[in-house]
Amino acid sequence: MEIQKKLEEIKKEALEIIKNTSDLSKLEKVRISYLGRKGELILIIHNLKDLPSSERPMVGKLSNEIKKKVENAITQRIQEIKISETDKEESIDITASPPSVYSYGYFHPLTLTLNEMIDIFKNLGFQIIEGPEIESDWYNFEALNIPSEHPARDLQDSFYLDKDTLLRAHTSAAQVRYMERHKPPIRIIVPGRVYRRESDVTHSAMFYQLEGLLIDNQVTMADLKGVLVTFIKAFFGPKRNVRFRPGYFPFTEPSMEMDISCGICQGTGCRSCKFSGWLELLGSGMVHPKVLKNSGIDPQKYQGFAFGIGIDRQAMLKYDIDDIRLLYENDLRFLEQF
Ligand code: DAH
Repeated sequence: MEIQKKLEEIKKEALEIIKNTSDLSKLEKVRISYLGRKGELILIIHNLKDLPSSERPMVGKLSNEIKKKVENAITQRIQEIKISETDKEESIDITASPPSVYSYGYFHPLTLTLNEMIDIFKNLGFQIIEGPEIESDWYNFEALNIPSEHPARDLQDSFYLDKDTLLRAHTSAAQVRYMERHKPPIRIIVPGRVYRRESDVTHSAMFYQLEGLLIDNQVTMADLKGVLVTFIKAFFGPKRNVRFRPGYFPFTEPSMEMDISCGICQGTGCRSCKFSGWLELLGSGMVHPKVLKNSGIDPQKYQGFAFGIGIDRQAMLKYDIDDIRLLYENDLRFLEQF
């Protein structure tokens, strides 16, 4: 297999170069060229998803083994260089502690996913905004057209600090906050933590969402679809298909949900997509006039769209992770695979 050969070559070359490097700063450059964010090996690991699924496990295993070998070789070389430098100075400091053993950290899969999402939306002209995690009932619910008796509140039960204050149940809470203080045109994304009273293999009491909001004076559903399709193709690659279904959210009208074709069976149906060929990905819609009014924006003059994407879900789909809890357990055997 081509890729297997390439990996073996990278390994051979890397180990050879490491062996022949005798300067710590040069060694750091070597490390970056193989194991940095854009490093040769890391790129192969990140692009595993583009391989046919029959090759993926083998190439994944091999590339992770090589990554470990290269890391170990670098660590060992650092020690050797340090020892030889001490020798050169000819004075031996018997009080010195043994050379430290470096171990390198990597970005968490959620950080990798979020960074990639931010890059794509930044290129589409969106600004990155943050909102508070402790939020008022008004911004989390009322202002978004979810009154206290509304059944949608059941789906978003969160943790209350007092009657009117809670840990935000969705990043949509940042919408009205931002619109109150800014005039259109508005084009923002709001990534961050959100909280719900639920927990199982696909739900965690704390997880990540990315909200998108665009308000201007000639915005249509076509713009919404254009932005979402562009995002999905950039994130998952051009081969994945999407479909839109009517949905319901109190703060958008009309509302729609977007599905992506299953990457494991290419849409023909398998266990992972419950034999439908599709996986649910996000909610979206045209911002409800009441939400605009609650933000002091005239719905006669302006309109726009919003969407909410689960970052954990994106990461799970991208890296074939089947249990959301793995993302939060900090188990190195899991984290070192990215
Ligand atoms: N806030 C919704 C949720 O957490 C997701 C969502 C749906 C956000 C539609 C939106 C939207 O901005 O338009 O389930």
